Amino acid sequence: MPLQHLPEHFSAQFFLTTLLVTLLSTSSDACGKPPRFENMQLSGSPKASYVTGEKVKYSCRPGYMHRPTVNIESVCAANGQWSLISKNACYKKSCPRLDDPTNGQAKFVNGSSEFGTQIQYICDPGFFLIGEKILFCLAAASGVEWSAEPPVCSKILCKSPPNIANGAFSPSNKDVFEYHEVVTYQCHQVPGQDKLSLVGERQIYCSENRLWSANPPECKVVKCPYPVIQNGRLTSGFSKKYSYRARIMFECNQGLFLHGSNTVTCEGNSTWQPPIPTCRSNPPPPQPTTASTIDVTSNPNSKGALIDFPDSKGWIISLIMIAVLEL
Ligand SMILES: *[C@@H]1O[C@H](CO)[C@@H](O)[C@H](O)[C@H]1NC(C)=O
Ligand SMILES: *[C@@H]1O[C@H](CO)[C@@H](O)[C@H](O)[C@H]1NC(C)=O
Repeated sequence: MPLQHLPEHFSAQFFLTTLLVTLLSTSSDACGKPPRFENMQLSGSPKASYVTGEKVKYSCRPGYMHRPTVNIESVCAANGQWSLISKNACYKKSCPRLDDPTNGQAKFVNGSSEFGTQIQYICDPGFFLIGEKILFCLAAASGVEWSAEPPVCSKILCKSPPNIANGAFSPSNKDVFEYHEVVTYQCHQVPGQDKLSLVGERQIYCSENRLWSANPPECKVVKCPYPVIQNGRLTSGFSKKYSYRARIMFECNQGLFLHGSNTVTCEGNSTWQPPIPTCRSNPPPPQPTTASTIDVTSNPNSKGALIDFPDSKGWIISLIMIAVLEL
């Protein structure tokens, strides 16, 4: 830096410091800033340059401990390099080894309990975790410690399942149910009245989250309308009344085409599912088969697309034939 270009208002002290630094940095045997380390830090602030023979001291960073036999200072050597310090000078402190919780496991996922590692807790089936699932070994005022108290594994128990209208569950002689314990619902039947159907799950069980595995069922009268199909007939499922889960099958009169499903079921909301089909003189539009749809969409390069092609070609040919016949 040419000295004559310095502004005049700079103090004499600053001027001298600058002069010194300039002289040192141009000298070939001075060192630059001392190196930084993950496990140790420089004591005091670094200077821009150091003269040969000058020493810097380090101390271990939080979470690390000084191995007393290893010196942690570095000397600026004549070649402008800082002398090496053993990486082992500061080693990671360890948090106390923790035992498995009762009815669970403490996994030291990093293989040790050193500073920076973690423990993951898992409870045995039938137990749930109260507290932190993961603990970290962190630097603290006095060394290292786990980020939280270890969690506990507590037994999974469920409260009584919900009561339902026109029905009951069993066993019902208790308030608390064990993990995986099952209750069974039943509908009350009143003689002389319409039969009540149990719609939903007949059995539910106490599950992981201390909740029941499903909503309770409903007890209700399910009556599907008498199935009427124009130009067709029932082939099975003849009855006067149709209640929950009744199934019927249909067929069209000779020469007609069935549009829809040939089998329908009486569902919990007193409707036929899928809806009752119809019989018409024209064939139903082609339904892409589920298998070829999956093939084409999931893997466009598969043979699925090729297999699909002759189908649609065949369909076009039959359309042409129908058109020709109708002329
Ligand atoms: C400890 O293991 C966990 C899970 O494998 C990983 O995410 C984390 O980075 C590891 N930590 C250290 C300090 O190795
Ligand atoms: C009846 O239930 C079926 C499913 O079981 C559903 O698809 C249909 O939309 C329901 N119909 C009415 C009218 O709620």
